[in-house]
Amino acid sequence: MAGASTFLALNNGVRMPALGLGVYQSSPEQTVNAVATALACGYRLIDTAAAYGNEAQVGEAVRRSGIDRAEIFVTSKAWISDYGYDATLHAFDRSLRKLGLDSLDLYLLHWPMPTDFDATVGAWKAAEKLLADGRVRAIGVSNFSPKHLDDLIARSEVVPAVNQVELHPFFVQEAVRAADQRLGIVTQAWSPIGGVNRYRDAAGGEEQDPLAHPVVAALAARYGKTPAQIVLRWHLELGLSAIPKSVRPARIAENIGIFDFSLTRDEVRAISALDTGARGGPDPEQVNTRLFSFRIED
Ligand SMILES: NC(=O)c1ccc[n+]([C@@H]2O[C@H](COP(=O)([O-])OP(=O)(O)OC[C@H]3O[C@@H](n4cnc5c(N)ncnc54)[C@H](OP(=O)(O)O)[C@@H]3O)[C@@H](O)[C@H]2O)c1
Repeated sequence: MAGASTFLALNNGVRMPALGLGVYQSSPEQTVNAVATALACGYRLIDTAAAYGNEAQVGEAVRRSGIDRAEIFVTSKAWISDYGYDATLHAFDRSLRKLGLDSLDLYLLHWPMPTDFDATVGAWKAAEKLLADGRVRAIGVSNFSPKHLDDLIARSEVVPAVNQVELHPFFVQEAVRAADQRLGIVTQAWSPIGGVNRYRDAAGGEEQDPLAHPVVAALAARYGKTPAQIVLRWHLELGLSAIPKSVRPARIAENIGIFDFSLTRDEVRAISALDTGARGGPDPEQVNTRLFSFRIED
């Protein structure tokens, strides 16, 4: 299974790097350095969101890097309190202003709002307008189940290019991956190295941490790689995009060191077999502006 591409083709022909840096929980103070380090290490995809509070620092690092803007793939996300057609158009302008950029490469709806799907559809229609106006190169969704995808597609024109979901060896999302594939949507893994299991349930300890699992550890020893590198390579072998987060330079470099080896089909299967069926993050069915009541400041 050698030779997995370092780019994935989206359904509108745009090329997206398979591996990127995530910046959720990177403080504004940490974010400029994390993004600058990542760009220097060869990352060309940065994943932020209005809700992360660090779009300004992502933009600053992108602009300061001296790398041609066209070579860097910048993703941001509309937060749920900004759903509805007009509010999402406003939110996009606010994100661009904070980033200090003229356009985005990918704009995602951060979560479905199953209890207010009309507002979710309104947000999507705004994203379609931004795409048509050339202000963003691709649009997509995040945390959508197969049913959310079908419901959205039935009520709109553009099929999402990307569905970004929680996905790691303990939660492999087979049904979502199958639906995405059927619809021509690229699946992008958040918490690709299982971060959510560590920071949301510290009490679970090593049992919750896919990086500490013996199957992953044995493969790390076999290839002379770290557990994180094994798991990130597993994502690539499955044809997924992955956006690991770190604010530590050594780990940022480690996490991109996955393009000089490959896993066999059986090794990929052995990692996929670690699935527990249990997500570490919020259940998308429960997400609405009562569960997450904060709003994004202009
Ligand atoms: N769409 C959504 O709803 C959603 C939700 C969550 C996340 N995301 C996106 O996905 C990105 C990644 O997800 P995530 O942050 O939840 O989890 P993750 O990337 O799986 O894990 C990040 C955690 O692992 C640590 N880490 C990083 N590299 C490591 C390594 N090589 N070895 C051991 N530990 C390592 C990090 O700590 P240090 O920083 O201290 O290294 C951090 O605590 C986010 O930053 C965000 O961009 C999206």
